[in-house]
Amino acid sequence: MCGIIGYVGGKKAAPILLKGLQRLEYRGYDSSGIAVLNGSIRVTKTCGKVATLCEKVSENNMPDGVIGIGHTRWATHGAPSDINSHPHLSADGRFCIVHNGIIENFAELKADLTAHGIPFKSETDSEVIAQLVQYLYDGDMISTLRNVMERLSGSYAVGVLCADSPSTLYAIRKDNPLVVGLGQNENFIASDFAAALEHTHNFVQLNDYEIAQLTARAVTFFDRNGKSVEKTPYRVDWDISLAEKGGYPHFMLKEIYEQPKAIKDTVSARIKGDNIVLDRIEFSASNVNSINRINIIGCGSAYHAGIVGKHFIEKYCRISVNCELASEYIYSNPITDNRTLTVVISQSGETADSLAALRLAKKLGSHTIAIVNVLHSAIAREADDVLYTYAGPEIAVATTKGYTTQVAALYLIGLKIAKVKHIISDARYSELLNEIARLPEKVSEILKDTDKIKQYAQSYADHKCVFFIGRGTDYAASLEGALKLKEISYIHAEAYAAGELKHGTISLIENGTVTLALVTQEDLYAKMLSNIKAVQSRGGSVLAISSQKNMQIGKESDGLLAIPDCDDDVTPVLTAVVLQLFAYYIAAKRECDIDKPRNLAKSVTVE
Ligand code: M6R
Repeated sequence: MCGIIGYVGGKKAAPILLKGLQRLEYRGYDSSGIAVLNGSIRVTKTCGKVATLCEKVSENNMPDGVIGIGHTRWATHGAPSDINSHPHLSADGRFCIVHNGIIENFAELKADLTAHGIPFKSETDSEVIAQLVQYLYDGDMISTLRNVMERLSGSYAVGVLCADSPSTLYAIRKDNPLVVGLGQNENFIASDFAAALEHTHNFVQLNDYEIAQLTARAVTFFDRNGKSVEKTPYRVDWDISLAEKGGYPHFMLKEIYEQPKAIKDTVSARIKGDNIVLDRIEFSASNVNSINRINIIGCGSAYHAGIVGKHFIEKYCRISVNCELASEYIYSNPITDNRTLTVVISQSGETADSLAALRLAKKLGSHTIAIVNVLHSAIAREADDVLYTYAGPEIAVATTKGYTTQVAALYLIGLKIAKVKHIISDARYSELLNEIARLPEKVSEILKDTDKIKQYAQSYADHKCVFFIGRGTDYAASLEGALKLKEISYIHAEAYAAGELKHGTISLIENGTVTLALVTQEDLYAKMLSNIKAVQSRGGSVLAISSQKNMQIGKESDGLLAIPDCDDDVTPVLTAVVLQLFAYYIAAKRECDIDKPRNLAKSVTVE
């Protein structure tokens, strides 16, 4: 996730900016840079670590200016490279910006500015902001920035330098965090407290569509109409180590809480009115109609996301979908040809088995689409097409936002194909599109109150074994729930298709055995109820996860965790969040090394 620091005061800016960037390293990044204003604006930026940037800054003899901005970048548009790193200068060199977020209409803006003779250097969406500031500059930065915000769509937290205002730093934001740190004769902007906490504990939150104007001695805020806004500062007494995890005790919890934003970033940029636009992937009628099989391939949670996708795509596209473990696919003499669409899913984009599967599918003549989080990773580069999940960097080994954004991306692909094939009614299409767009809001609802999940989790923390059952798409979601629990808490956990219990596994149910039953599919309630009763009659206890509209299931179980009401076809995103928290709180109670579970690596680059 990108990080921002900005400084204006009486001290040399460069060392403060570099230190601030080091404080932001925990967020994950692939490149970094700073800009200092001292008469003119000087930028030093580089691909790689902040340590490399520090070396480059001392080689470049950065000016002694007392105002500047810095950035750690996590690539989303354009490969990690020196040129694509921030800060970005405007073509005339008078304006300079750092940006977190995604500018959804950057292509249109870039075309427009290019037509007005403004040259671009990078492939990023962010550079458009620097060029737009230059283009719209009317001598007054506040009115210029108001106009800039009018033109931008998407999400942004932006720090801006203007050579014509050599003692003033500016910031704007929408849907991306930005705080203003208030010091003694010095002030800061930062994407989170960590970057400025060693200089000040007093902060002000910038709200959507507000502008901050900072000098060494004063900070002024304006709303989108240019009216000045009064704000009350608050004190942050955090210890710096806590601040580096954004206040969360573990990266995993932080990443669980980042899901509303991650899903929103992944989905909203692709929903244009009633249309789904999947970047450059061409879903023409002839392409789609020529597909007679879809293979979805991945490992671990990516494979589980694929199984959720299989249910959705088969239901709405009426195309047969095989979901394959990458490590099995590559040694299976797979049925794959030029009428097969292969979708390879990988958060890291570097998983060796998935990469090998991608290469094999291509060799067999299949068109390949990668659903990947890490920009320009091997799988992203080698696939014919790529659909990025905009989850931001995932640091905890156990994937959370990586998984839910993969599921969301698969929903978009399924719905797109169904629409192109004309086999979904307009009404159902719109209903589902709306449900997908509302997922972030529903995930936020779950995250608002997690006490009950925590209580149940803590009461099960001493169990040796937990079963997860479900049917259909709930079974797919159970697989991920069980993996989360075993990977971080070391409790043996198994997911079963609920109807399969009676074919063997039910012999393991005894007094006190815990089973989590996922019951979100209305047409399967009755069947699930029989499975729940079968477990209970052998002495097992059942914690049901169901939607609020199905309260009856709570009465029939030993406990209930309710997810917000939503369409049955998209519940796996919501149940995933509950199950992530359930696993997290059990592991926390057991004092496990949650972010780095034993024997596991974040990216498995060996077969
Ligand atoms: O980076 P990838 O998505 O390709 O990784 C695949 C699996 O290794 C990964 O999902 C793994 O199962 C996670 N640790 C699960 O939390």
